[in-house]
Amino acid sequence: MRLSIITSAALAAALLASPALAASGTVKILGTAQGSPVTGTLKMTDGPKGLSVVGDVNGLTPGLHGFHVHEFGDCSDSGKAAGSHYNPANKPHGNALKDGQEHAHAGDMGNVEANSQGVAHVNVTIPGMALAGGKMNAAGRAVIVHEKADDFGQPVGNAGGRVGCGLVVVTGN
Ligand code: CU
Ligand code: ZN
Repeated sequence: MRLSIITSAALAAALLASPALAASGTVKILGTAQGSPVTGTLKMTDGPKGLSVVGDVNGLTPGLHGFHVHEFGDCSDSGKAAGSHYNPANKPHGNALKDGQEHAHAGDMGNVEANSQGVAHVNVTIPGMALAGGKMNAAGRAVIVHEKADDFGQPVGNAGGRVGCGLVVVTGN
C-alpha cells in the first residue's frame, strides 16, 4: 500500500513535468487504390504555434494535390470513410496555414506539390492544432492526399478523389 502511494506521487510529478515535452505522432500514408504507388510517412509534433507536420509523400503524379486532415480515422472505401475535412469550428473551406483558423476548416492544409519524381516534401504547421486534446486535434483522424489540386473553392476545394490516406497515431509524449 505504502509503495503504491509513493509510486502515485512519482507519477504525478512526472505528469506535471510533461508539458515541457512535445507530443509526437506519425502518419503512414498508403494509396487507397489497389496497386497504388502512393506511400508516405509524416511526423507530427506539438509546438508553440500548432501542430508541425513533416515528411514525404511518394508515388504521386507531379503537381499539386489537396492535403487535409479529415474527421475520421478510417481509410476504407477509397478514403471516403475518413469523412469530410475536419471542421470543429464550422468554418468555410480555406487554407488554415495561410489564412488562419478563422477562415478555414481546421484541417485545411492547402496543397502538397509533387516534383517530377512524384515526391512531395511536406513541412507545415497547422496553427492552433494539437496532436491530442484541446479544441482542435488530429490524433485518431486521417490525413488525405487528393488526386487534384485544392483550388480553395467551396465547399471542399474541388480536389477530387482521395489517392492517399493515413491514420494519425500518437507515438510519444
Ligand atoms: Cu481532403
Ligand atoms: Zn476544407
